[in-house]
Amino acid sequence: MGGVQLDSVSTAIATPNIALIKYCGKRNERLILPTNSSISMTLDEGLNSVTSVVFSKKLVSDQFYINGEKQDLNNKDIKERFAVMDMLRQIAHVDAHALVVSKNSFPTASGLASSASGICAMVKATSVALNIGQSPKDLSIIARQGSGSSCRSLFGGIVKWNRGKKEDGSDSFAEQVFNEQHWPDLVDIIAISSSSRKKVSSRSGMKQTVANGILYKSRLAYVEDAAKRLIEGIKNRDFEITGQIIMRDSNNMHATMLDTYPPIMYLNDVSKEVISAIHELNDTEGKIVAAYTFDAGPNAQIITTKKNKNKVMSSLKEINEIPNIITSAQGKGPRILGEDSSLINTKTLKPNK
Ligand code: PMV
Repeated sequence: MGGVQLDSVSTAIATPNIALIKYCGKRNERLILPTNSSISMTLDEGLNSVTSVVFSKKLVSDQFYINGEKQDLNNKDIKERFAVMDMLRQIAHVDAHALVVSKNSFPTASGLASSASGICAMVKATSVALNIGQSPKDLSIIARQGSGSSCRSLFGGIVKWNRGKKEDGSDSFAEQVFNEQHWPDLVDIIAISSSSRKKVSSRSGMKQTVANGILYKSRLAYVEDAAKRLIEGIKNRDFEITGQIIMRDSNNMHATMLDTYPPIMYLNDVSKEVISAIHELNDTEGKIVAAYTFDAGPNAQIITTKKNKNKVMSSLKEINEIPNIITSAQGKGPRILGEDSSLINTKTLKPNK
């Protein structure tokens, strides 16, 4: 069993990422291979998932808790995500059962990418518990198979998930494009209007998009080039270019989703009000100072610079239906926490109260 320490808890913290060029479709459902490359910004620890993992011969089955609730490992969605644990166990040649306890500091499944930070933290903590010494790139290939977007949370700053071409997925990994120091002025303002679960999961939304979207084909024709242009824009710290590409890609993904049948609509009236408010702000400023983007949910995330943060806040304050605004700088990626952060009681092998 090499360096595996059974009965010893590892805990990791990871953060969500916001997609600036969206992942929206799979070329292989089982391996979670995307039909296009995507780019994201990793958020800071203001929003986070903390996950503790222990492997023990005393456990009679795998157990998985999120926010204090025991998850049903026979549920298809949960099972697919938890499959990364088997991949990691196989690498380590371990057959002991696992207890995984995870906590999100923000609403689960409301388009705020809790699956990205949750799976990233689980993979990171498990790699340490099993002492398998995988590189972040190797871990991104594993995390990708639990939830596509989670592979990008393994790195800080601006991250690219490469589409890859190989059938086995070995070239579809995430990598850092710029660390958080490259353009530290960039911030993300998250305007939460809804914390309810999304009606259509991103997984089934994407499946339908690939199956019957008409506009989807033109998305594929434009998106790789947009990713290159975005990297250039960020490289030059050019907000005019960066901001426009971010907004257009969000609009493009949501238009593509609306174009499938039956239509998928993640945006609501408040989302549309935010879109108008940001265009109004940019018009008043005579240049792009803020860019909205939406993942698979109605909550807007507005990328701006520290200098313009207050202007964005004032625009948002005029929209009554946004009770909660969170600001995040760029994060550094996941890290391992000390024993005092453990969510597991090692004596009872149960979640800590
Ligand atoms: O990784 P998933 O299955 O949660 O999909 C995420 C999809 C989007 O958030 C809509 C876009 C993205 O690239 O994160």
